[in-house]
Amino acid sequence: MSERELFLRYVAQTSDSPLLLEISHSNGVYLFDYQGNKYLDLISGISVSNLGHQNPKIIEAIKKQVDKYLHLMVYGEMVQSAQVRLAELLISLLPQSLNCVYFVNSGSEAVEGAMKLAKRYTQRTEIVFFENAYHGCTQGAMSIMGNEEFKQAFRPLLPDVKMLKFNHFCEISQISEKTAAVIVEPIQGEAGVVLPKENFLYELRKRCDKTKTLLIFDEIQTGFGRTGKMFAFENFNVIPDILLIAKALGGGMPLGAFISSSEIMRSLTFNPVLGHITTFGGHPVCCAAGLAALEILTTENILQNIEKKEKLFRKYFSASKKIVNVHGKGLLLSVELIDFQQIKKLISLALQNGILTDWFLFNDKRFRIAPPLIISESEIEFACKTLVEIIDKI
Ligand SMILES: Cc1ncc(COP(=O)(O)O)c(C=O)c1O
Repeated sequence: MSERELFLRYVAQTSDSPLLLEISHSNGVYLFDYQGNKYLDLISGISVSNLGHQNPKIIEAIKKQVDKYLHLMVYGEMVQSAQVRLAELLISLLPQSLNCVYFVNSGSEAVEGAMKLAKRYTQRTEIVFFENAYHGCTQGAMSIMGNEEFKQAFRPLLPDVKMLKFNHFCEISQISEKTAAVIVEPIQGEAGVVLPKENFLYELRKRCDKTKTLLIFDEIQTGFGRTGKMFAFENFNVIPDILLIAKALGGGMPLGAFISSSEIMRSLTFNPVLGHITTFGGHPVCCAAGLAALEILTTENILQNIEKKEKLFRKYFSASKKIVNVHGKGLLLSVELIDFQQIKKLISLALQNGILTDWFLFNDKRFRIAPPLIISESEIEFACKTLVEIIDKI
């Protein structure tokens, strides 16, 4: 049997239309298959490969750590150099109140940890979330997914969650003294890249301060330079009580974290002790990769060029009259067409022309533009011209 047949037979499938590319290797902004085709990556594995594929400094850091030690003990017991140094560097980039990092394995686990932390700290139970929000697929995270179609088959989920409409100021008053936490993506990802209206996050902050509710920003997709700032909240001058990161945090390895103040985080140490337990959270190899990635992002001229690259995408896409709109910020963009039929055709034809893009979970009129941040101007030109040619034909 071919590997493609083995994949379809033995590896659990989650849809009847996987991409089925057979990748032999990757480099920079490109994936290469065994048939000798090369694909320009416009999605970064959904905002993971922010520094491109196979960055030599990240690979070297991984190899060095592999030679020292792998897993030693469950999270929180041993002093592990890469983990400590990564926490230190993260904290140095964040406001003073975000000064304590809990490392986990994934975005969903960071969401679970944050929900537990908020319940434990506030001794309240209600969690407020937003329509079309995506926070992951474990049962806690799914309980605060803002889309009924994807979650209804898995009910009963968590009780005491409340959905509000994103960008609807009049709904903010529904956050009350009963609310443990409000969780929000500062820019909604799977909704199709939706920016907050001016002052929306600020008003959320104000209401949370008034009701003593914790404000959680899910920056799992928006973090690490994707919007042109290290974290998206810097664009809006609003600081959360808990920050969630994952995806690009691990430099291509699986790693997530929830970050808060040491005062809030301390509540996981008593009543009961071990408020969150994770075997592999903060794995040394993942932290070594994450540390190398963050060192690159903070020392090399990457963030400074994001705005210029966004403008280039927008300029080239303005050449097509069939494009309804381009949404987003930095290199977290979406292109709006007329319907899902067009989106499906576009994605398939783009792939045939060596470009990898994708659709969104909760928006069927847009396709994704979230390339590695290192994409060059000529690669942007090639990608856009190819896509515009396809769009104008379909
Ligand atoms: C905003 C956001 N939060 C949470 C998650 C869940 O992360 P993971 O798939 O690592 O569990 C995702 C994943 O796409 C995401 O985009």
